Amino acid sequence: MKNWYSSYHQVLAFLSIFFFILHLTQLQHFQAAGAAEYVRPPPRRIISTTHNRPKSHPQQVHISLVGSDHMRISWITNDKSVPSMVEYGKVPGKYNASATGEHTSYRYFFYSSGKIHHVKIGPLDPNTIYYYRCGGVGDEFTFKTTPSKFPIQFALAGDLGQTEWTASTLAHVNKTDYDVLLLPGDLSYADSQQPLWDTFGRFVEKYASRRPWMVTQGNHEVEAFPILKINAFKAYNSRWIMPYQESGSHSNLYYSFDVAGVHIVMLGSYTDFDGDSAQYKWLQADLAKVNRKKTPWLVTIIHVPWYNTNIAHQGEGESMRKAMEDLLYKAKLDIVFAGHVHAYERFTRVYDNEANPCGPMHLTVGDGGNREGLALMFKKPTSPLSLFQEASFGHGRLRVLNRTHAHWTWHRNDDEHNSSISDEVWLKNLSVSEACKEAAEEDQEPSNAVNDEL
Ligand SMILES: [Fe+2]
Repeated sequence: MKNWYSSYHQVLAFLSIFFFILHLTQLQHFQAAGAAEYVRPPPRRIISTTHNRPKSHPQQVHISLVGSDHMRISWITNDKSVPSMVEYGKVPGKYNASATGEHTSYRYFFYSSGKIHHVKIGPLDPNTIYYYRCGGVGDEFTFKTTPSKFPIQFALAGDLGQTEWTASTLAHVNKTDYDVLLLPGDLSYADSQQPLWDTFGRFVEKYASRRPWMVTQGNHEVEAFPILKINAFKAYNSRWIMPYQESGSHSNLYYSFDVAGVHIVMLGSYTDFDGDSAQYKWLQADLAKVNRKKTPWLVTIIHVPWYNTNIAHQGEGESMRKAMEDLLYKAKLDIVFAGHVHAYERFTRVYDNEANPCGPMHLTVGDGGNREGLALMFKKPTSPLSLFQEASFGHGRLRVLNRTHAHWTWHRNDDEHNSSISDEVWLKNLSVSEACKEAAEEDQEPSNAVNDEL
């Protein structure tokens, strides 16, 4: 008995020492990952945004781009008799135009959604403020259309969730004007608890009703019931319809759109992507249609990063990279944005695991502020392909100034009031690069494997 008791304590002591050393090791990685003086924040609580309007009034209002001069207005009412109709105009309270659209609803086991309205309005003037009302009742909302030419500004934040950190990120995004928010997957973190999609819709309405939010899906959107594999993407596809039909896609899980000289391709990490898949064939056709004289910039957004030196989610994007990287490299893709890893990371221009000045720059921005917290550890030694890593919440900003130059900044959330630029880089457009034109045409190995642009 005594021997057993002694062994038990020896095991306990061993485990204590083991976990203490592990903790120290993690701290070392943690500190090496970014600015040494910065103390990274812990996760914060979920904010539950309640419904406090009449049943017929719109809730969860958000907007998205459709074609060059239309906007889709999406909202939900608990009252099923409210018409799917939007009135709009350029003067507050005076609506000289209106449009009717479609509606849907869905069931997810014991949950029944409200009436989900989607109304396409337009044609709209570029860079113009509009005022609108949904369903003929309730508050007036307002949005600004995107510019028709450069410059244009994108805000980027993935893996958003609905926590106090998310609120901080969105408040920082909103402090400086921008034209479009791009979200590389993982929106609500509802994870099959459907009322959390409603709280998320209400949580983001303040921002998503004012600027178009263009999103793609992440693993938290799948929501397929285990074993039976039913209900996959049911909430996401009902609530967050993107302009897939307008871009010749048969699935809301992948699509493309043009905005002010930028062609943006939203790819689906959680649907088939192999060479014989519908997504791959659609991507081939979509890239063949891109006119770089009209849209000099080519940007792709995925959820799972193809390049990642964080310990979290290692290798998860590899099969998609192998399937699609070549196609996008030949199209002279400028940038790949990804989420999934809850940290920020910037790579050099890269192709097939080697630095390549004619490949795209890869950036991971899975740092919106969700309930799961940060991915703290990066692999050591640092890969020469990875130029910046930081495990903090924040958002990115891409300012496309003209057909040749863009400026990227990454903004760390210091606290709920302040953010600071932690990383920045200038990018040159690949479609105007003579060296890359020759490299692509002659299928040569590019000579100078260097990154930073200016
Ligand atoms: Fe994810």
